[in-house]
Amino acid sequence: MQISDLIIKKNNKKRLSQDEIKFFIDGAVNGTIEQKDIVRLLKAIYDFGMTNNETSDLALAMCDSGERLHFDETIIDKHSTGGVSDSTSLIIVPILASLNYKIVKMSGKSLGHTGGTVDKLHVFDDIQTEKNHQQILKLLEQTNACMIEQSKTLVPADKIFYTLRDETGLVDSIPLIASSITSKKLASGADVVLFDVKCGDGAFFSDTKKAKKLARLMTHIMKINKVKSKALITDMTQPLGKNIGCNLEMVEVIEVLNGKEGRLKSLCIELATRLICMTDKTKYKDAKQKVLLALSSKLALKKFEEIMSAQNANIEKIVNPELIEVAKINHKVCASKCGYIEKICTKKLGQIVNIMSDKNDRNVGIKMNVEIGDFVDKNCELFTVFYNDKVQLQKVKNELKNLVILSDKFVKKNKLILRVVR
Ligand code: URA
Repeated sequence: MQISDLIIKKNNKKRLSQDEIKFFIDGAVNGTIEQKDIVRLLKAIYDFGMTNNETSDLALAMCDSGERLHFDETIIDKHSTGGVSDSTSLIIVPILASLNYKIVKMSGKSLGHTGGTVDKLHVFDDIQTEKNHQQILKLLEQTNACMIEQSKTLVPADKIFYTLRDETGLVDSIPLIASSITSKKLASGADVVLFDVKCGDGAFFSDTKKAKKLARLMTHIMKINKVKSKALITDMTQPLGKNIGCNLEMVEVIEVLNGKEGRLKSLCIELATRLICMTDKTKYKDAKQKVLLALSSKLALKKFEEIMSAQNANIEKIVNPELIEVAKINHKVCASKCGYIEKICTKKLGQIVNIMSDKNDRNVGIKMNVEIGDFVDKNCELFTVFYNDKVQLQKVKNELKNLVILSDKFVKKNKLILRVVR
């Protein structure tokens, strides 16, 4: 078999067989297929798609590119398809672990314009996010949870594809996203999974039809692999939290674990509650009560410290979030007139923060002071920008002015959950 034949086949809109997909994954991981050819085939998949069966074969082959974990206890998990200011995992994992549920959360780095959980975890000095089976077992025993990333032994195919897709813009593809996410869930031994499929300008799909298709495909792949799953389609027409950028987002995570209200907290409560209901048939009202108590009692905050500490992180910054460094130069961007916030160009906001951080500088970012449906007076503060570069700051400031659209007419607040897909 030759990789060039598979690339030609996919470019001719033909289906790849299970053996061909396995050949691709094996070659990508053991280095016999060159990076440029991996990208060519990923591009052909991006351009011409895959059937549900091909995507399912791809997910399974990616999962089996490394070790597949098995545990005696029920492992639960959630996964977001990616959004702006989406730090839900960092809040949900400690909530559920504090309630004695076991979670092996395998996440990725920033992808396209969206932020990555792994980048945010590295706000804490010395944290270790690559773990093997034995180490994961120990972490589960110690704290009920771990927050890890793909590695040479866990879904290495996804680690390779994820980076290449990010570098080459091959991100917003239903088969590539579905296989990337479900391969990680299968490899990490999850028994119950809730997918948070983002929909809107800040997601990879703003079209509800595509979001639904992605949701159905992921739940289908889970079903044929005997994993219980559901998906929620959730709003990403505006950043979920108020802060965008690694350090700022971690500050907000700690604020939410300390009680700060808002859309980020509301969605975390909803996702954690529904995951509990799916796991042990607890009634919705009782599950929500438990989740609220985990937050209000600060047990979830304590659990976050424990989980991070068990992964070698210095937790000083959780105890004293003011130690989380934020760029010193800041500037406010204000409304040029009064009106209701009608639209926030969320993808563009994510892209701007990515450029500002150059994917490495964690202390830059944007704080949003408004959300869709708010009424603002002229000169009301819309954003605060935190940057290290005075010259570039001017440019960002000018761009940001056009990213909030105001209306003279009343604008309704957006619903957080758009639909449930089983
Ligand atoms: N999250 C992932 O893990 N993979 C994707 O492709 C998109 C979001």
